[in-house]
Amino acid sequence: MPRLSLSLLALLTLTACVEEPVEATPETGAMAFAEDCAACHGPDARGNGPAAAGLPVTPPDLTTLSARNGGIYPRDYVLSTIDGYVRGEHVSGVMPEFGAGDMGPMVMVEEDGLATPIPARLLALSMYIESLQR
Ligand code: HEC
Repeated sequence: MPRLSLSLLALLTLTACVEEPVEATPETGAMAFAEDCAACHGPDARGNGPAAAGLPVTPPDLTTLSARNGGIYPRDYVLSTIDGYVRGEHVSGVMPEFGAGDMGPMVMVEEDGLATPIPARLLALSMYIESLQR
């Protein structure tokens, strides 16, 4: 019997590894957003999540980031706000930091001829938020 449960455990572990998203897409970002962000920012990212009412700072509408930035999606700002690496002084600390360590394997992103490694889950979140801009 212990032998059986051990192989079952191995199988479950293997399945978990296979299901880990290897690429960053707006779709994997949408799943991550529903898990980690929607409680505060709302299922539609407009700032009306179920936990928003109890916060000292209202979570911003994440569908107007480009509109508030002269029509350009502020990707670096979004990435660094999520992982907490660089935060502007206006960030109150109400929003938790999602450390890069829990954000999955790195994917290389080409920017200005430079390849930068960005954790897949973090990049996917940003791609999803970018797709929501109106
Ligand atoms: C506990 C509630 C909470 C959770 C969970 C949360 N946020 Fe936030 N978020 C906030 C608040 C509040 C702010 C406003 C800045 C501040 O004062 O902290 C914010 C700010 C932001 C900003 C900057 C928006 C702007 O207009 O400048 C981005 C981008 C963002 N969050 C993305 C995310 C993403 C992506 C997730 C999930 C990985 C997430 N947040 C999870 C509460 C939350």
